Amino acid sequence: MAGDKVSIHGSWASRWVFILAATGSAVGLGSIWKFPYMTGVYGGGAFVLMFLLCIALLGLPVMLAETLIGRRSRQSPANALRELALDAAHSHKWSWAAFAGMITALLILSFYSVVGGWSLDYIVDLGRGDFQGIGAEQAGRYFADMVSDPWRLILWHTLFMLLSAWVIARGVVAGLERSLRIMMPLLFVLLLILLGYSLTTGYFMAGVHFMFNLDTSRLLDGLLPAMGHAFFSLSVGVGSILIYGAYMPKSSSIAGTVVAVALLDTFVSLLAGLALFPIVFSAGLNASEGPGLMFVTLPLAFGNVAFGQLMGVVFFVLVAVAAWSSAISLLEPMVAYLVERTKVSRLWVTAALAFICWFVGLGTVFSFNIWKEAKFFVSEGGAFQLYQWGATGGLDLFGVIDFFTSRIMLPLGALTFVVFASWVMGREAVRDELAMRNASLFAVTFFLMRYVAPLGILIVFAAQLLK
Ligand code: TRP
Repeated sequence: MAGDKVSIHGSWASRWVFILAATGSAVGLGSIWKFPYMTGVYGGGAFVLMFLLCIALLGLPVMLAETLIGRRSRQSPANALRELALDAAHSHKWSWAAFAGMITALLILSFYSVVGGWSLDYIVDLGRGDFQGIGAEQAGRYFADMVSDPWRLILWHTLFMLLSAWVIARGVVAGLERSLRIMMPLLFVLLLILLGYSLTTGYFMAGVHFMFNLDTSRLLDGLLPAMGHAFFSLSVGVGSILIYGAYMPKSSSIAGTVVAVALLDTFVSLLAGLALFPIVFSAGLNASEGPGLMFVTLPLAFGNVAFGQLMGVVFFVLVAVAAWSSAISLLEPMVAYLVERTKVSRLWVTAALAFICWFVGLGTVFSFNIWKEAKFFVSEGGAFQLYQWGATGGLDLFGVIDFFTSRIMLPLGALTFVVFASWVMGREAVRDELAMRNASLFAVTFFLMRYVAPLGILIVFAAQLLK
């Protein structure tokens, strides 16, 4: 029955293109920018361990669920859940949860585009030679200067959003393949070169130690952040992977493909960490410095090696491409939905949504400068306040959006999809769609989807609340 459905948005030419697109979606700022800084903030090894466990036990089952839901229904997340739920004689209200996910994707895109913009800015800065022979303190100041200038951030944020919208307006299936085929492998090579550089700093083992030494007292601390980031990194929980699954040819094996994508993504994260932390320690920087970590450390590497200027430009171009191929997967679910539901053309739907995301993104822009002092969820000396200007603790607006999306909405979205596939669609539908040859492997996979992932997500939430 479901096998004959076709997507109105087109489909990938082959399984290989799905791998490229899904890897393009997964590998991005999450691996290169966010993973290292979160590892720094949450104390190294404990966070890394939790992250890896969450990828394997929670992220993978969810990713499988999303892909198979997408491929079975061939529609945008909300319509997929509506139709499959009705098929299985369940409530159409499941689609509301998917709708919330699609909105979450747009919220993520709003700040993602700002940070994508930072990497565009750095392409130019490196190309100009701004970082030649730079020291740690200057690199820190350079980043601080950049983010303190709202106009500069807006310029690049705008450009990044336009680039993403452009591909989506033309249709994902058409635009993606050619660029990713070259860029993704190249990104990998440059990360290896960076790793080579960090080997020469004399602090490589310090980096390794930081990332893999287990401080058990911090395990609980980083648990919810690690889970949220595992979903973020794999692009699951909002329908990005679902919509890419919807464009997947029927003949492709889902399980092998999804595992390959998850492995690649995790590998890039670890590589990025191993490349960055030795530089952090050799320059005496603070590992828990936060979102600026990558933008302060990398100029140090590129500013102080032969051919650094050229390599730096190439590297940031690749980071921007990786970010761009992720950003489009954040926009696509809602675009596909509106194209399905309305008579408005893809071009106008894309333009309108990109504008909204751009506008919301201004909040993130300003939280690094003119709204820097606006703090939410402040608890000072035992007293809790929702909002206070100029407080020392609390979250800025970017922090709030990041917290709400990664720690609350992504896990809830992930829970929705994995429960939907394994409980609503049920074993037979999942078996049919996964078409795994090995029966015991299927049994284990289904067990992970049906029990381990949902319970795991709930336990992590509970642990956070009881902490
Ligand atoms: N995974 C991407 C990254 O790591 C970001 C991303 C794309 C994403 N699509 C997503 C995150 C959907 C959460 C949900 O850079």
